[in-house]
Amino acid sequence: MPDCFCCILPRVKNDSWLEKWMELLRKHANGGRVLELGCGSGWDTVDLLSAGCNVTALDVSQKRLRECAKSAPHANVLAADVGKPLPFADQSMSVILASLSLHYFSWANTLEIASELRRCIRDGGILLARFNSTRDYHYGASSGMELEPNFYFTGEQTKRFFDEAGVRHFLQGWDIRFLEENVIQRYRNPKYVWEAMAICR
Ligand SMILES: C[S@@+](CC[C@H](N)C(=O)[O-])C[C@H]1O[C@@H](n2cnc3c(N)ncnc32)[C@H](O)[C@@H]1O
Repeated sequence: MPDCFCCILPRVKNDSWLEKWMELLRKHANGGRVLELGCGSGWDTVDLLSAGCNVTALDVSQKRLRECAKSAPHANVLAADVGKPLPFADQSMSVILASLSLHYFSWANTLEIASELRRCIRDGGILLARFNSTRDYHYGASSGMELEPNFYFTGEQTKRFFDEAGVRHFLQGWDIRFLEENVIQRYRNPKYVWEAMAICR
């Protein structure tokens, strides 16, 4: 699997998007498991650990998992594919976090992932997620070969961009408590993302 385009870009700095969720994370993580999908080199994993979470950090890339294990040695790292059924029991997670890692898949597969997340989260559990926005023009929106609406082959990999309706469709069945399109300064150019927090009802 080729390295994710975003992962090989030099980061100006990490963006502190989890800061406003730390209180909530502390509350929900108490005694429960936290699943991080597509953990990359572990930037968010470190924040999850500092909130006292018992984190399972999952990624398909062994290289990223090695980096994650180095920066977040107390996390349980796991090699797995988000696009396949997740190896966790029903309602086993208190929190699921997916930052910029749910955009590699066909729409049919994306909806399968959505139902896997609902299967694994416990009642009242929370989902924190960030999605590439359709306005993320600096990082590939509307470029490459369009395979499906808002889903492109960029030469090395497939990449989806979400509009608000797409995010809401993905979060069907969740109680959406926060949904905002934001600009983040993580790489050299501004990056447009949708940020969501939703509760399993
Ligand atoms: C853009 S990076 C985001 C990393 C991290 N969440 C962050 O925000 O710093 C996307 C991550 O998803 C991982 N990934 C890509 N396809 C995946 C898949 N099918 N299953 C699991 N992880 C995947 C990549 O290896 C990469 O680490």
